[in-house]
Amino acid sequence: MHSSRLKDWAPFSFLIACAISTLLLLSSSSCSSTTRSVVVPPQVEGAHYVGNQKCEDCHAEITRQFPGSVHSRFFKEDESYHGVSGCESCHGAGSKHIQAGGGKNVFIHNPGKDPQPCLECHQEKHAEFSLPQHHPVLEGQMNCVDCHDPHGRDIFKQPGGLGLARQDQQCAQCHREQTRSFVFVHEGMQDGCTTCHQPHGSIHDKMLTQRDSNLCLRCHSQMQFDPSQVLVGKVDHSAFLSMGTCWTAGCHTAVHGSMVNPRLLY
Ligand code: HEC
Ligand code: HEC
Ligand code: HEC
Ligand code: HEC
Ligand code: HEC
Ligand code: HEC
Ligand code: HEC
Repeated sequence: MHSSRLKDWAPFSFLIACAISTLLLLSSSSCSSTTRSVVVPPQVEGAHYVGNQKCEDCHAEITRQFPGSVHSRFFKEDESYHGVSGCESCHGAGSKHIQAGGGKNVFIHNPGKDPQPCLECHQEKHAEFSLPQHHPVLEGQMNCVDCHDPHGRDIFKQPGGLGLARQDQQCAQCHREQTRSFVFVHEGMQDGCTTCHQPHGSIHDKMLTQRDSNLCLRCHSQMQFDPSQVLVGKVDHSAFLSMGTCWTAGCHTAVHGSMVNPRLLY
């Protein structure tokens, strides 16, 4: 756990380091050129960074919970960090917002309406949302915050709601058909929707993680004694597998669960 976290951090540490040095560079010389690969916090014309503490006066609740968020791990109350990991890394420099007494659309960015600030740091997500099958985020029909909580301790958590795996609660808001309770539950659903679906986008139909029966055989493959035979659930599937995928061949169309059929036929 610990070492994999460190691994995850590595590319970001580099990004953050780049961003910090660029910011320092920009403040010391006005004619330096920036490259597109450098993280640029949302710009607010004429405003400067003030730090998280200044936001607390009017947004106490959010400022109190934010230190628990993954996004505040890098934060220090030190000027060079304000724009790269504080509130202002997503919302833009806050001085003019505060001078004006705050307010909606008053010298401040809200990435709940436009995900661009998120994409500055998570550039690879732009590519994922551009894949042939994707959630319509870049089209403006939904947003990162439909599934992610930007301020809280758990970036996946949805307040309220019980029963489903925490990530799946987000999906349930919009996909009731797949998340309702079934008489014949598919145990393959236990580890969550992302066992089979890419949440952002995929090259495969229905945003699946794999396009063919390997999606299912990953969990359902059995010891083969005769290599020409594919056994699934003690039934010889060798002939079936050439008829299409497990779900399109008309055999297990109710992959998410069934009200009537234990074999998830329909
Ligand atoms: C990782 C990016 C990110 C960081 C860092 C961040 N916010 Fe936000 N903030 C958002 C997003 C996204 C929304 C839109 C939430 C929504 O629409 O549900 C938002 C919304 C808000 C709002 C509008 C009220 C609301 O809940 O919709 C306020 C106020 C706010 N943030 C203050 C802060 C403060 C103060 C901090 C630092 C303590 C902070 N934010 C840090 C992304 C961020
Ligand atoms: C003097 C009080 C005050 C301070 C200080 C303040 N804000 Fe606000 N802010 C407001 C008010 C009032 C609103 C409008 C009501 C709301 O959305 O909560 C607002 C709204 C916002 C919104 C939503 C904007 C929108 O268009 O939806 C964000 C984001 C935000 N503030 C971020 C910040 C950040 C980041 C800081 C610190 C740098 C900060 N605010 C400091 C008063 C303040
Ligand atoms: C200033 C750069 C920056 C911005 C802006 C930013 N992020 Fe992040 N994000 C990070 C860093 C750094 C991490 C930490 C990576 C880690 O801990 O593995 C992270 C982690 C995450 C994670 C993964 C958390 C986990 O536990 O695996 C999600 C989800 C995420 N960000 C979503 C968002 C969303 C949504 C927005 C916009 C509201 C956003 N980010 C804006 C830098 C940023
Ligand atoms: C439909 C819901 C949904 C939307 C919309 C969404 N995400 Fe995610 N995101 C997820 C889920 C679920 C995971 C966990 C993936 C996993 O565990 O395999 C995730 C994981 C992540 C991660 C960490 C793991 C990774 O894949 O790198 C980041 C960073 C992230 N999302 C950023 C974003 C940003 C930025 C946006 C908006 C531009 C966004 N997400 C929109 C559901 C969503
Ligand atoms: C805010 C609403 C919303 C949330 C939350 C949401 N989705 Fe979606 N989902 C959509 C929309 C809108 C589409 C596109 C539907 C279309 O184009 O017909 C979609 C499409 C899909 C598709 C492809 C459907 C098809 O017929 O091609 C899958 C699979 C999917 N979502 C899974 C998920 C998963 C898994 C989650 C949770 C990680 C999730 N969704 C969260 C709104 C949402
Ligand atoms: C994450 C692992 C996993 C994945 C992926 C998975 N399943 Fe399952 N599935 C299970 C488990 C566990 C059971 C219950 C034990 C058993 O019957 O093997 C099960 C049960 C079933 C059953 C009921 C078997 C019976 O006789 O009661 C069917 C049918 C089924 N799965 C079809 C599929 C199909 C089709 C796919 C691909 C779309 C799939 N599964 C993907 C884990 C998985
Ligand atoms: C065991 C693998 C598996 C899991 C887990 C899974 N799905 Fe699916 N899902 C599929 C397959 C396969 C299809 C394609 C079905 C088809 O084309 O008939 C699909 C299709 C969909 C669709 C498109 C509409 C439809 O029913 O064809 C949506 C939306 C969807 N899934 C949402 C979800 C959500 C939300 C979750 C989590 C609660 C989830 N899925 C978990 C395998 C899975």
